[in-house]
Amino acid sequence: MANPDSILLVGCGKMGSALMAGWIDRGTSPESIFVVDPAAAALPVGVSGGGSIDDIPQNFLPSVVVLAVKPQVMDAVVAPYVKLVAPETVFLSIAAGRNVASFEALLGADAGIVRAMPNTPAAVGRGITVLFANTLVSAAQRLSCETLLSAVGKVAWIDEEAHMDAVTGVSGSGPAYVFHLVEAMAQAGIAAGLPSDLAMTLARETVAGSGELLAQSDESAATLRENVTSPGGTTAAALDILMADDGLAKLMTAAILRATERSRELAG
Ligand SMILES: NC(=O)c1ccc[n+]([C@@H]2O[C@H](COP(=O)([O-])OP(=O)(O)OC[C@H]3O[C@@H](n4cnc5c(N)ncnc54)[C@H](OP(=O)(O)O)[C@@H]3O)[C@@H](O)[C@H]2O)c1
Repeated sequence: MANPDSILLVGCGKMGSALMAGWIDRGTSPESIFVVDPAAAALPVGVSGGGSIDDIPQNFLPSVVVLAVKPQVMDAVVAPYVKLVAPETVFLSIAAGRNVASFEALLGADAGIVRAMPNTPAAVGRGITVLFANTLVSAAQRLSCETLLSAVGKVAWIDEEAHMDAVTGVSGSGPAYVFHLVEAMAQAGIAAGLPSDLAMTLARETVAGSGELLAQSDESAATLRENVTSPGGTTAAALDILMADDGLAKLMTAAILRATERSRELAG
């Protein structure tokens, strides 16, 4: 069942609605989706919904329950969904920092659970989502979850849940590092004498365009870097500083290790 027969989406905010738009774009029948969200605005044509679990029709038996509410309300929201636990139903959480054990505590030891860590470029279909499944999830259910997350970008599986903290440090929080790179480049452009508007436009377009080039190219990041670096030229002069022993790689390693530790601390 690559395309699940029926999807229950619990929480239809920024991520939930981006996911649902991706499913429908990729051919999922709107009639196969039921949304629970007290604040959901107008739903796409054909999608049914309600404000609470009590609004789910008796005959709607979801093959995937997608949990897309904020982590801090997850416990209270998820507990009643224990009544939907069944071998043919997998629970797919996209909540940051909520581990599989916390869902097993809420839904019981018989629940098939997949934990996913998406990132914000999912909003434009360019996310990367990392997935981890407990042992009750079948191969077909893994494929269903993978298909649902592929609607907003690329996917990768991990076999050790402990890696989710480092995943959070690299790809979950990563978009913020790239946005900060834009800020740092703009600030440097101003320091080099450019008007601030122009410095920001140059920094923003350089990062966005380079990201697009990376996405469309088969070359490695190292090769693309070498392609714009002539020996003794301007790029080489800057890279001598950025790639020094105490340069960007050292700073980025310290930052990502700190984010990884923080993810562990927040998980408790
Ligand atoms: N945004 C991202 O880029 C991103 C990236 C990675 C992971 N995530 C994860 O995705 C999840 C959702 O984040 P988000 O940014 O989409 O949050 P959001 O925009 O606040 O969406 C959550 C939605 O759930 C609704 N809700 C609250 N109580 C509910 C209930 N009892 N039953 C059903 N729906 C309920 C909320 O309604 P109200 O507004 O009325 O409370 C809201 O519409 C989070 O767990 C987050 O960690 C998000």
